[in-house]
Amino acid sequence: MKVLVTGGTGYIGSHTVLSLLEAGHDVLVVDNLANSSRESLSRVQEISGRTAVFHAVDLLDEPALREVFARNSGTEGSHSRIDAVIHFAGLKAVGESVSQPLRYYHNNVSGTINLLRVMDDYGVRTLVFSSSATVYGESNPVPYIEKMEIGANNPYGRTKEQVEDILSDVGAADSRWHIALLRYFNPVGAHESGRIGEDPLGIPNNLVPFIAQVAVGRREKLMIFGGDYDTPDGTCLRDYIHVMDLSEGHVAAVNHVAQKAGVFRWNLGSGIGSSVFDVLHSFERAVGHELAHEITGRRAGDLPAFWADPSAALADLGWSTSKTLDQMCQDHWRWQKNNPQGYTTA
Ligand code: NAD
Ligand code: UFG
Repeated sequence: MKVLVTGGTGYIGSHTVLSLLEAGHDVLVVDNLANSSRESLSRVQEISGRTAVFHAVDLLDEPALREVFARNSGTEGSHSRIDAVIHFAGLKAVGESVSQPLRYYHNNVSGTINLLRVMDDYGVRTLVFSSSATVYGESNPVPYIEKMEIGANNPYGRTKEQVEDILSDVGAADSRWHIALLRYFNPVGAHESGRIGEDPLGIPNNLVPFIAQVAVGRREKLMIFGGDYDTPDGTCLRDYIHVMDLSEGHVAAVNHVAQKAGVFRWNLGSGIGSSVFDVLHSFERAVGHELAHEITGRRAGDLPAFWADPSAALADLGWSTSKTLDQMCQDHWRWQKNNPQGYTTA
């Protein structure tokens, strides 16, 4: 297939571009480079020996997006035509979404509407969307299953929920659409080569990138947000998933929905809850020594514990995770150690 990947220079996108190229698909990338670097695709090319065609386009610029589809609009089934879109492009910082809600709704929701309009006009109606476990909100019991009522508790999460609603309505109105809503749990790790990985701008919001920057000497110590939760060691439990398992989940999902019309929802997680201390100790094993840390107050909005029931993805896609928390930390550390300043090192 010829797959257009929005947000394909970003963290999960670049790993998925690699998996798609390795699976033999042709890949086009659209990204405005708001939170990423083109260097990621050069590295993907170096690893795979294949090239993804890059377009520096913002999804909010509908004419520019239309031009990309116009240039790839051969007859159905022909080599030049886009067969499917995997849509990663979006802003993702929860705290920033609270202070800049309009920017988040505009980028994530309006950007997606532009994409859907252009896809529809060009008859490309197979879409895989990056949703998030955050749509399950605060009131569902764990493990999360796809049929639960959703209700996010922050603007970022509500952009995901709104896009899920829009896609459900689009699929209900026109049976020619083939749509996968993928609810990711906590993606971490990097390709085992250590050549591509997560490269957050500024101070990392997320646990593993923060620990990695402590390990490489860019931050003094990890602040653990809360040690008094009702969990086995007092810290929050999350379902960490290796980014390569996640990227392979996208390949499985796009292959599946390409053959099957409708709107499908799948959790992509391991089904295992790991604590902040589990992650810290695993990362320390990867590095080979202890890392400075301190327990501080809880972070507003954090849930004590959540993880996926990943059985639907196994049953429908034949997909499940294969990599352990130790592999996630080893691979994340290899990337960080070899690229202490991320892609800017290059
Ligand atoms: P990322 O920031 O590394 O990648 C997103 C990419 O989208 C970036 O390259 C950015 O430049 C691009 N982008 C943003 N707005 C755009 C626009 N208007 N037009 C074109 N390009 C645009 O983030 P990621 O971690 O790879 O996440 C990918 C997707 O997965 C996002 O939609 C995110 O919300 C979702 N997600 C991420 C996580 C996570 O913890 N990383 C968890 C659940 C869901
Ligand atoms: N944590 C710390 N210190 C830090 C960073 C995080 O103790 O410096 C703790 C958090 O309190 C939480 C755990 O580590 O208990 C994981 O935190 P992350 O920020 O890495 O991940 P979250 O589960 O809070 O959220 C992430 C994304 C969300 C997404 C969610 C589910 O940031 O956008 O995973 O996919 F919705």
